[in-house]
Amino acid sequence: MDTFVIEGGRRLYGRVRINGSKNAALPMMAVPLLTDAPVTLRDVPDLADIRNMIRLLGQLGCARTNEADNAKGVCAFHVTDPTQSHARYDIVRTMRASICTLGPMLAKRGEARVSLPGGCAIGERPVDLHLRGLAALGAKITLDGGDIIAKAPEGGLVGSTIFLGGTFGSTVLGTANVMSAATLARGTTIIESAACEPEIVDLANLLIEMGAKIKGAGSPRIIIEGVRELGGADYTVMADRIEAGTFIMAAAITNGDLTLENCPVDALLAPIYFLNAAGVHVQPIESLHTAIAGTPRPRSSTLTVTNGAGPTTTGDDPMRRTVRVTCDRVLRPVEITTQPHPGFPTDLQAQLMSLLCLADGNSVITERIFPDRFLHVAELSRMGAKLMRQGSTVIISGVRKLVGAPVMASDLRASAGLILAGMAAEGTTVVNRVYHLDRGYERMEDRLRMLGASIRRVDEKELSPSEAACAS
Ligand code: EPU
Repeated sequence: MDTFVIEGGRRLYGRVRINGSKNAALPMMAVPLLTDAPVTLRDVPDLADIRNMIRLLGQLGCARTNEADNAKGVCAFHVTDPTQSHARYDIVRTMRASICTLGPMLAKRGEARVSLPGGCAIGERPVDLHLRGLAALGAKITLDGGDIIAKAPEGGLVGSTIFLGGTFGSTVLGTANVMSAATLARGTTIIESAACEPEIVDLANLLIEMGAKIKGAGSPRIIIEGVRELGGADYTVMADRIEAGTFIMAAAITNGDLTLENCPVDALLAPIYFLNAAGVHVQPIESLHTAIAGTPRPRSSTLTVTNGAGPTTTGDDPMRRTVRVTCDRVLRPVEITTQPHPGFPTDLQAQLMSLLCLADGNSVITERIFPDRFLHVAELSRMGAKLMRQGSTVIISGVRKLVGAPVMASDLRASAGLILAGMAAEGTTVVNRVYHLDRGYERMEDRLRMLGASIRRVDEKELSPSEAACAS
């Protein structure tokens, strides 16, 4: 099993491009199941979850047609066998986004059998809202042998008004599933309490390019007029806001100076607001003045996000901006609650916690999306962090330094948080089980090393005696 060996205390410095978004790409990859035409996606990150989704699509009769080209980030798909509608447990259990194939297969093929995803490290994660939404479109849903079996009525799905809110608010993949299915339903579908995440807007834009009629994506009310069929598309996936947020905090925790290209600033307003309050500065750089950090400062203005006002920005597309990240020497504490978009995202909570461990005072983080997503708390404590958890809230008393230690990655974002902590800590940190990280960050260690971090990927069998002692 791979581990990361990190020597802390190096400032990150330089330039990095933000990749296409994993969480946008995964539901988009189920979209070719809705059409007989070819669909090409660009800027798809090379990640374990994406490779699993390609395998799953293959099982469902949807082939990747450009495998041989080896063109980086380009995935072309075409349905070759629409009779295969069973998403089996062996793949579904490795990747919850497999559930996104349910709505498209049901809408296009009239039936689907998808293994019920099990629990996961960050919480229970039921799919009841997905099923409620599809049932409202007329699907008959039963469970058999751990599989969801969904059948459309004679003549296909029928548009309907659906309330998709649950105990923890809206559902991102549930909205993706129901919105995708409704594109081929007869009549009008209204999704109330829809997820407003930018990945939903990106998915809607892909579907619209294919001929779907969708209005309101990005708001809590999405209206879909069903069409008889969808065509193909050639679409570039949005930049990954969580990867961008992780690099912003990597710059901050190492007191570094990073320039991020392709940064989806517009999708990061809440994190930028709170980070700014903590003393982290994200400055847009005019795209024509993309100087390398260390050369005289290009014309830039601090990106100020205030309650009620949009950001002051320069340059072109606010979802693909070049920004410079710097931070004050002393970080200030903040209080945040994770919320559905446009609130602070749960997927940046672990990384923020690592950063706030080093703030000058007491911070508070409350997790409202996945109340048990705190497996990193015990690991950060092993590095000298002072953390007190009470239910879904953690109080973080800032310390002057973290100290390297062996730690265990338990889920994707917890891994990212521990790597940030390791880069800031004194001494050596060995992060075990980095396969979690590989699910969501492409070549993370190479990119961090290029920016000045001391980080190596080592098979745990090849650790030196002192590292092995640290990892045990
Ligand atoms: N929920 C239900 N019933 C459902 C669906 C969700 O009760 O049928 C609950 C969940 O248990 C949770 C809340 O609703 O408490 C929100 O879950 P949501 O359905 O929005 O999560 P998801 O769509 O399964 C996506 C991302 C997650 C991200 C969440 C929240 C993908 C592939 N996954 O999951 O990303 O944390 O939205 O923003 O898009 C990650 O990338 O590390 C990750 C976990």
